[in-house]
Amino acid sequence: MSNRTFTIIKPDSVRKGNFGKIIGRLEEQGFQVLGIKKVSLTQKQAEAFYGVHRERPFFKSLVEYMTSGPVYVAALERESAVPTLRQVMGATDPAKADAGTIRKEFGESIEQNAIHGSDSDENAKIEINFFFAESELL
Ligand code: CMP
Repeated sequence: MSNRTFTIIKPDSVRKGNFGKIIGRLEEQGFQVLGIKKVSLTQKQAEAFYGVHRERPFFKSLVEYMTSGPVYVAALERESAVPTLRQVMGATDPAKADAGTIRKEFGESIEQNAIHGSDSDENAKIEINFFFAESELL
């Protein structure tokens, strides 16, 4: 069944001009873009979005990084959207990601890892609703 996931093309990808290449990869893998926006996350937005990581040692640095430049946020649709996107992205740490994955090719470090993808259907819904109204998803 076709369902939704959520992605962020992160600041390092936008800075390096990799946005188009990454979206191209997602389209090649059969994802439809339901909605997409270029946004500069505020500190409050980044802290709220990554709230589950608040107690982690990397939280402050993650928020600084995610507010260091514009990102693209997008709602995507495909069969088995959540696990497929995670496969196409590769492991969190680009050094450990499989060959051919987006993070292997475009990620710089475990923090500056090119792309975010939802880790469950439930979080996909929460993350899509964080940035989009249903009427913006086509
Ligand atoms: P993401 O999939 O967006 O979810 C949480 C983010 O925190 C992750 O990608 C990385 O950008 C960052 N992150 C996760 N683990 C670490 C770590 N050990 N050190 C620094 N940043 C991390």
